[in-house]
Amino acid sequence: MIILGIESSCDETAAAIVKDGRQILSNVIVSQVDIFKAYGGVIPEVAARSHLEAILPVIHQAFKDAGFQKDGQDDWSQIDAIAVTHTPGLLGSLLIGTLTARTLAILHNKPLYPVHHLKSHIYSAWLNQQVPDFPLLALVVSGGHTQIIHMSNHNKFQIIGTTRDDAVGECFDKVAKILGLPYPGGPSIAQAATQGDSHKYRFPHPKLTTKARPSNNSANTAYDFSFSGLKTAVLRAVQEELKKPISFPSHQLASLLNAQQVADFAASFQQTAVDILLENLTRATQNYPCKSIVIAGGVSANQLLREKAPKCFFPTKSLSGDNAAMVASAAFFEHNSGIQPTDPYTITLQPRSPIQ
Ligand code: KG4
Ligand code: ZN
Repeated sequence: MIILGIESSCDETAAAIVKDGRQILSNVIVSQVDIFKAYGGVIPEVAARSHLEAILPVIHQAFKDAGFQKDGQDDWSQIDAIAVTHTPGLLGSLLIGTLTARTLAILHNKPLYPVHHLKSHIYSAWLNQQVPDFPLLALVVSGGHTQIIHMSNHNKFQIIGTTRDDAVGECFDKVAKILGLPYPGGPSIAQAATQGDSHKYRFPHPKLTTKARPSNNSANTAYDFSFSGLKTAVLRAVQEELKKPISFPSHQLASLLNAQQVADFAASFQQTAVDILLENLTRATQNYPCKSIVIAGGVSANQLLREKAPKCFFPTKSLSGDNAAMVASAAFFEHNSGIQPTDPYTITLQPRSPIQ
């Protein structure tokens, strides 16, 4: 079965053609990262407009790269279904992908699979040579999410831990801002950290009570995360290092740090963030015996995380960030589990929704 995947949930416009959920025939990603470097973060309106410009050329390129063009025209007879990210994400961005996908599904009379973004990230692990076994635990770490998810089988999800405030990727991005490193913060912190001492600064690990939890995706709170305190701890440590009061404007701190201080803060922060992720994951494996552990999502590109979790399944580095191959893969396994495609006229999109 050959599926065209489409992804536009945040700041990457992507299309990919994947055979039987595992064989990538083409994978095109246009990133808006250069636009948002200038602003230090994503601006939703700008992202949506950029998706609108890029989406059709990106889809044509996916057909071209797969060798699915005849006389310069996309050959739709080769495509069995279309899959698109419909939740969660930026509303305007999701809108461009879902409207494009549903229009193409109607026009070419193809089944349409709306796919949850976190599910896609987990299924990026199926695009490797070796695939995970069930039951499995998945740690999904991205700019918007930090969750531990138990899967008893394909498409059987139970969220057993989630963040109570910031996502870990968001925390990398915010700490990078404090240190004056460019957006996106994950890669720039990882790069700066290579020159730093990870023991130079000590940051606390959150101690969460299992009682109070503001939003309840599940009753279990034992494996929840919290990252906003870590971001504040870095800010306080920078203020202390520079002997500046709390009232000193935080955006002026970075220019006072020298390169070694930045590297040491980056390395110490990265070490703490990775330790927090893996401590929770390790505790979860003790109560949820599993055959495989998957670590996926943008932050799974992090080299320190990969080195500290050698037995886990990671996506290929180029597929850890947002891409459409994982969307097509997830849809294939939905189809395989007997999940029916959606009527393109009734497809819905949601900025937030739990994995399902
Ligand atoms: O999955 P993703 O591409 O988009 C979302 O669904 O959010 O994740 C983006 C996040 C950003 O916060 C980015 O800083 C982080 O992934 N990231 C990293 C690395 N590469 C990207 N974080 C840590 N280390 C990296 N090497
Ligand atoms: Zn993502």
